Amino acid sequence: MEPGRPVAAVLFDLDGVLTDTSEAHYLAWQRLADEEGLSFDRAANEALRGLSRAESLAVLLAGHPVPAPQRADLMERKNRYYRESLEHRPPRLLPGAQAAVEAAARRGLRTAVVSSSRNTGHILALLGIAERFDHVSDGRAVPNAKPAPDLFLHAAAALRVPIGRCLVVEDAASGVAAALAAGARVVGIGPEERVGAAHQRFDSMAEFDLEAAVKPKL
Ligand code: BG6
Ligand code: MG
Repeated sequence: MEPGRPVAAVLFDLDGVLTDTSEAHYLAWQRLADEEGLSFDRAANEALRGLSRAESLAVLLAGHPVPAPQRADLMERKNRYYRESLEHRPPRLLPGAQAAVEAAARRGLRTAVVSSSRNTGHILALLGIAERFDHVSDGRAVPNAKPAPDLFLHAAAALRVPIGRCLVVEDAASGVAAALAAGARVVGIGPEERVGAAHQRFDSMAEFDLEAAVKPKL
């Protein structure tokens, strides 16, 4: 963050910040891991937050040599489980998410969704909030996924706002690392052990306070 320069845009992560799809991602990976006899559980899933589908699979396979076509099949299967689960239980906005987006717009800040997910468009459509944002950068936008800074830099450039004047809201360790590497001001949503590297932290979106987050830091 550039000292003394006010925040001009808020870049919201999707899964785990705007919507409750993190659980559906986890359950889909768990089902795949169980079917494939891979060791995986809820605690191990914390490390997958924010990572791309391919990177998540690599973590799940833990160095097992698996040829590319088989990897593609596994990713396709996980995505099928994920998408099917959304048909049974559609995604919901997390408490506080809508208020945060509205507060940003009321303050005249530009807004974007910045997510590793290649399902971002589908999820935003299901939530009915796509029109609320000035821009969306998703997992298809850049070759290097989080924790690389590229996705946040892509969104800032599209909004024509210097990254140093962007406030990023993230629930994943990989996302916080990506936003810090990009040079943004970063708010972490979740426990200290996961997002403690952020400049500021709230336990959940229900606690998120935009005014406190945009306040100039000394
Ligand atoms: C991130 C999620 O937003 O998107 C990860 O936190 C997920 O859990 C990643 O793996 C990629 O999502 P998708 O929808 O492209 O498989
Ligand atoms: Mg997330």
